[in-house]
Amino acid sequence: MTANQRLTTPFTARTTAAEILDGVDLTGRRMIVTGGASGIGVETVRALAGAGAEVTIATRDPRRANALVEEFAGRGAVRSAALDLSDLESVDAFVEGFPGPLDALVANAAIMAIPTRQVTAQGWELQLATNYLGHFALTRGLHASLRAAQAARVVLVSSGAHLAAPFDFDDPQFERRAYDPWLAYGQSKTAEILLAVSITRRWAQDGITANALNPGYVFTNLQRYVDDDTMRALGAVDEAGNLVETDHYKTPAQGASTTVLLAGSPLLDGVSGRYFDDNQEAEVVPGGPDATAGVAAHALDPAAADRLWAYTEKAVVTR
Ligand SMILES: NC(=O)c1ccc[n+]([C@@H]2O[C@H](COP(=O)([O-])OP(=O)(O)OC[C@H]3O[C@@H](n4cnc5c(N)ncnc54)[C@H](OP(=O)(O)O)[C@@H]3O)[C@@H](O)[C@H]2O)c1
Repeated sequence: MTANQRLTTPFTARTTAAEILDGVDLTGRRMIVTGGASGIGVETVRALAGAGAEVTIATRDPRRANALVEEFAGRGAVRSAALDLSDLESVDAFVEGFPGPLDALVANAAIMAIPTRQVTAQGWELQLATNYLGHFALTRGLHASLRAAQAARVVLVSSGAHLAAPFDFDDPQFERRAYDPWLAYGQSKTAEILLAVSITRRWAQDGITANALNPGYVFTNLQRYVDDDTMRALGAVDEAGNLVETDHYKTPAQGASTTVLLAGSPLLDGVSGRYFDDNQEAEVVPGGPDATAGVAAHALDPAAADRLWAYTEKAVVTR
């Protein structure tokens, strides 16, 4: 495969996470999955731990992971630890409590479309803070642990929502422009893809690779802030508000497959700085409000990645 060739795999949109790892032994690999106690994260943990990996579920309330920890009691190791990505003190405490090395960090946690602008203790808009800035601080804090694993992977669970929202360097926190819940979400998801590009540019000599992905549409807690009209417009519920079975919605186990491909499959050995959808590398497209598939050029732009890294380092250090 040349650098410009798109990576393809034998898997499809309907492949489950467990099927991706059929025949793959992850025994001895240590992994962290943020938001691993609900939705797509649960199936991500289940597949990785099922293949033998030692998985730490990072969640705001570790008790929420009890059932999953129990499920693996006596076969493999799943544990949980407290992490609130919107609170940098919590991120620091998590990093301090994690003994390296770390083979894979899966940045899966997120919130979506918070209806009104909310800010963290640092004054950061909540979606950018949770989905991106917290994951940046976590990844940076775990750099030595990732380096120690020698061929570590960072997996950024992004979204097709990035297509409509380039990172706005003039006003990333929506201090001057009108707050838009979907633009804020989309921007945070663009930032996660740019982080994969930056890690590739900065940490390749440490053997660390980083890739991003869109899991596809899955009914989870993520939609809790989305109003009924929007759910209807998305074709997710009928007029009466009942969930509709549609072809483009995946089960959580199918939604977790691309994450698991990037975190654990040997097909991804040495691959970095790319974006995947339905278990294939996505086509680069111009992006914009009408774009529905692929990865936007604005999310893979190395200059934007460098600029974002500088902005974020400053924000996190001078918090
Ligand atoms: N579902 C979809 O259709 C879809 C589509 C495109 C992309 N995605 C992406 O897929 C990923 C997983 O989403 P999901 O659908 O599985 O949603 P979900 O069930 O709501 O899971 C998201 C997780 O994020 C965690 N989280 C939220 N705020 C947090 C914070 N401040 N600190 C730490 N963790 C926090 C929550 O964990 P705790 O409450 O346990 O802390 C929750 O378990 C997200 O990155 C999302 O953007 C999903």
